[in-house]
Amino acid sequence: MTKIRATITGIGAYVPDYILTNDELSKMVDTSDEWIMTRIGIKERRIIKEKGEGSSFVGSKAVKQLLKKTGTSPDEIDLLICATVTPDHQFPATANIISDKVGIKNAHSFDLNAGCSGFLYALDTASKFVEAGTHKKVIVVGAEKMSSIVDYHDRATCPIFGDGAGAVLLEPTTEDIGIVDSMLQSDGAGRIHLHQKAGGSVKPASHETVDAREHFIYQEGQPVFKWAVSKMADVSVEMMDRHGIAPDDLNWLVPHQANMRIIEATAKRMGIKREQVMINIQRYGNTTAATLPLCLWEWEDQLKKGDKLILATFGAGFTWGSIYIKWGYDGKK
Ligand code: UT7
Repeated sequence: MTKIRATITGIGAYVPDYILTNDELSKMVDTSDEWIMTRIGIKERRIIKEKGEGSSFVGSKAVKQLLKKTGTSPDEIDLLICATVTPDHQFPATANIISDKVGIKNAHSFDLNAGCSGFLYALDTASKFVEAGTHKKVIVVGAEKMSSIVDYHDRATCPIFGDGAGAVLLEPTTEDIGIVDSMLQSDGAGRIHLHQKAGGSVKPASHETVDAREHFIYQEGQPVFKWAVSKMADVSVEMMDRHGIAPDDLNWLVPHQANMRIIEATAKRMGIKREQVMINIQRYGNTTAATLPLCLWEWEDQLKKGDKLILATFGAGFTWGSIYIKWGYDGKK
């Protein structure tokens, strides 16, 4: 029997209009453009300023663009998975809300939380539905309003994160393209270094938790940095070895955009050049589950059918992984 693979057939994305610059941040906390550029590599990030809007605001705009670009009717979609750590509400799922906002009625939809690896995990999950032959058109959307959980009094975390969303359409193919392989891992012992202290069932929201600023991101930067460098590089190098991909054969590394130094260290371990790496952290910062589709969206016009891409992430959980894709089409849709 011919093997069915899932292939990406289109990309949509959306970033909010408001640009939060390093200079503006320097007026909020004791930091500087020089420190942020040297230690993280971020110049600016986008922030949702529209009142009463959450992650589904950016997510639905990304999905709408995706449907338009690919000429797909919402009725044709079988499944939508939303990767997010900043859902509109604890429940219902933001995926349900996005589907409603864009008019997807004949599908089931659910959220997936794997920290900054959310998009990668969701892509892997979605690909299994397509490979099984039960689902023909599946959307994966990474959507975040990180600004809703960033403490703008904490100079160690507030420069890092931004808001945004990106979405891809997955369809079946029997050609030698698509999602070839995935290697995903997690280790919950790492949760002590990166989490949100309150707002879940362990510590529901109370006056005390709000006073103690426990609804914001808690991050111990250095251990997270060390784990990220080693795990993202390990899993990417292993993927190259597994498929006999020499450094010069790889067209693109699509890395999670958390810190320029982590991206550079990963590329170095893989033996690839800067020109082979998609990097837009300068302009968007770390948009958590949206970093990978935002890269694919920006580089879409440079991609060619058959290009070899490795997507790699590391995030809260800890979660990490890599996916090997043979790209499915030439240029922008
Ligand atoms: O996507 C999820 C995964 N997250 C990550 O991948 C993040 C991983 N971690 C990192 O990217 C880095 O650890 C950070 C960017 C968070 C921090 O950079 P660092 O080079 O590890 O800095 P540090 O925490 O070791 O702090 C060094 C110094 C400290 O001052 P002292 O104690 O040496 O006087 C900090 O207080 O830098 C200070 N500092 C700052 N100074 C100016 C911390 N944040 C700032 C700031 N501006 N924004």
